[in-house]
Amino acid sequence: MTTTDGFGTPRLRRLSSLDACRADLYGGPNVAIPPKHLMASTLSHETAIEMDMAKQHLDDDISSTEGSPRAASPIAEKPITTVDDFALAFDIDGVLIRGGEAIPEAGAALKYINGENPYGVKVPYIFVTNGGGKTEEERCLDLSRQLELEVSPGQFICGHTPMREMAERYHTVLVVGGEGEKCRVVAEGYGFKDVITPGDIIKTRHDTTPFRKLTEEEHKNSRVRDFEQTRIEAIFVFADSRDWAGDQQIILDCLMSKDGHLGTRSETFDEGPPLFFSHNDVVWSTSHEHSRIGMGALRASLEALYKAVTGKELTTIAFGKPQLGTYQFAMRLLRQWRKNTHGINKPPSTVYFVGDTPDSDIRGTNEFNEISDAHWFSILVKTGVYQEGTIPRYPPKKVCNHILDAVKFAIDREMSKGDKESAIMDDADSGIDSETALRN
Ligand code: G3P
Ligand code: MG
Repeated sequence: MTTTDGFGTPRLRRLSSLDACRADLYGGPNVAIPPKHLMASTLSHETAIEMDMAKQHLDDDISSTEGSPRAASPIAEKPITTVDDFALAFDIDGVLIRGGEAIPEAGAALKYINGENPYGVKVPYIFVTNGGGKTEEERCLDLSRQLELEVSPGQFICGHTPMREMAERYHTVLVVGGEGEKCRVVAEGYGFKDVITPGDIIKTRHDTTPFRKLTEEEHKNSRVRDFEQTRIEAIFVFADSRDWAGDQQIILDCLMSKDGHLGTRSETFDEGPPLFFSHNDVVWSTSHEHSRIGMGALRASLEALYKAVTGKELTTIAFGKPQLGTYQFAMRLLRQWRKNTHGINKPPSTVYFVGDTPDSDIRGTNEFNEISDAHWFSILVKTGVYQEGTIPRYPPKKVCNHILDAVKFAIDREMSKGDKESAIMDDADSGIDSETALRN
């Protein structure tokens, strides 16, 4: 089956979910500029209101939790300087969060990079997660609550963030995964004009999935439509499927159709719409002591199913880490975040990426380092997917016990690099005081 890379380029090679070669990393999303709403957000009035609302929600939540401390307060007495030569990028699951709770060292690590360190410096940072299933704003609110620290959409990328670029290309799309209607809301927010969910298909034709019945809530939200008059132009898996059997059946029906018309069957099985995944993590880190299967596992399963049912290979496309497009996107976001929030108008020389998954975080960082103007330095922590004593398929530059050790290592390494004075800049010099910077 031939699909496009999302920008119309025919893709003839197969992108395996398990052993994508290095060249495949260049075949992902070719994001030229980060989305406007992300790039403009840190200084925009809209985001100020948004973050005020977010803060209000946080204050409400926190005031109901007796004695919850707020992190990230700079040391009041010492002048805080912001480093301009390096920056940090954090993976989330397995680095900062596990099973919805902050990893014990996360709070101290974030305080450390916000000025509570022996050097009295603050280090700009962004978050790059393969997770998703909610709007970036909602995900930032979750993260702010979990970390007790304000996180802005302007410093946050999730797996499906770059998919918004596809809204210009595809009008009618099937969006799979996540809770309830959340992914439909995300897709519509990205500008997709006509978003179909598996619920819509099951409500219209209940025997589509013999063993899945819609809940009352799902039935209420799902939309009956005339699928004879509908052409599904692309399929997007935005978040982990909550019903593999039903979702795989629906995706297969769509892939095996003639040009995305459900109910039809292609005779050649090469006429279906393209299938995109927001990332390719086969496993990920949760509260369970062993990694749990994730979206990459669904991808592998679907590719195997397609082969078993049709005899044909299925080509699919994954966004997220380790795709280089995600790192290019991250670099642009970081530059804008540093400029808007810290007044630093030059690219960082070094970006330390802290991750827990060798196959996505470390692989992507190492590969991007080879093509980037900046030095991307991979740090693997032991609090997630990577297990001590195993040999990672993609070796990091440095292994640390946890995020606190990682940020200490990064700052010590930078501060011991010769002329320290040139590597730091007073926030006062940048025209932005520390409080303003923290608020933005
Ligand atoms: O589903 C999300 C998971 O696969 C990985 O998230 O934050 O580790 O990139 P993260
Ligand atoms: Mg992770």
